[in-house]
Amino acid sequence: MARIAPNLTGVPETMLWTLHNRACEARRPDGILLDPKGVEIYDTLDYDYVGSFGAAEPSHAIRADFFDNELRAFLKDHPEGVIVNLGEGLETQRFRVEDDEALWLCVDLPDAIAIRERFIKPDERHRHLAMSALDRGWFDAVPADRAVYITAQGLLMYFAPEDVGRLICDMAARFPKARLCFDHIPEWLSKKTLKGWRKGRNYVTPEMPWGINQCDIEPILREWAAVERAETFPYKFERGWQGLVFNGLMRVGWIRNRSPGMTCVRFA
Ligand SMILES: C[S@@+](CC[C@H](N)C(=O)[O-])C[C@H]1O[C@@H](n2cnc3c(N)ncnc32)[C@H](O)[C@@H]1O
Repeated sequence: MARIAPNLTGVPETMLWTLHNRACEARRPDGILLDPKGVEIYDTLDYDYVGSFGAAEPSHAIRADFFDNELRAFLKDHPEGVIVNLGEGLETQRFRVEDDEALWLCVDLPDAIAIRERFIKPDERHRHLAMSALDRGWFDAVPADRAVYITAQGLLMYFAPEDVGRLICDMAARFPKARLCFDHIPEWLSKKTLKGWRKGRNYVTPEMPWGINQCDIEPILREWAAVERAETFPYKFERGWQGLVFNGLMRVGWIRNRSPGMTCVRFA
């Protein structure tokens, strides 16, 4: 395939950051993620990943693996369920998690959907909705009689806190008993992005206004919405001495509280 320039800016460009980390992990012989489709997309895009994001590291593959396992558990209970993937970008989860019956709805901005469709075509069971996740229009695309799993990887931190709150409140009201999985960054990291976080020599990340420490997540979720259960998980690095050090640090409550994490919610 001829190489394709992604021509993305702003938050949509960040899909190349997560793709960089996932695809490089998937290419390692000891990688934790099997993702040939992601590697194919990565190799086809004409983009200076290292110039923008620096050397690849495994965090986004760890996150993807965690989200894949959560989704597999949901599909085991609800093979005919609906998966809503908010801000899906160039995620290739649907190729990693096999299923025959679920309906997948990918919601992302028009520029993001356009580049996704260069590689991944929608079909009857995998629909693409070119709109903001904040536009409640996507709610109507979710069939009323099926179990719902909403996932937002690398998205909510780019929204204003009040927009996150209103969206979660509305999703809980519209999709009772649905599951929602999302990841989050701590307050200090959000503040760093507001000052301009230079990630690589050519790239400053967009602002991430929603930062939250882990101990504040469950209380704020309960303030925003009717929540039956909420559980937060740390990233777990599996490899080498960095893994040992990192996982050891995650046992220290003060540090874990101020680290990025992932939360799974079941609405009441
Ligand atoms: C960091 S990327 C994450 C992409 C993908 N979820 C992943 O983990 O690789 C952020 C994604 O959010 C999308 N995005 C930004 N603002 C959005 C909005 N208002 N509604 C839906 N998607 C949005 C971007 O286009 C991009 O695909």
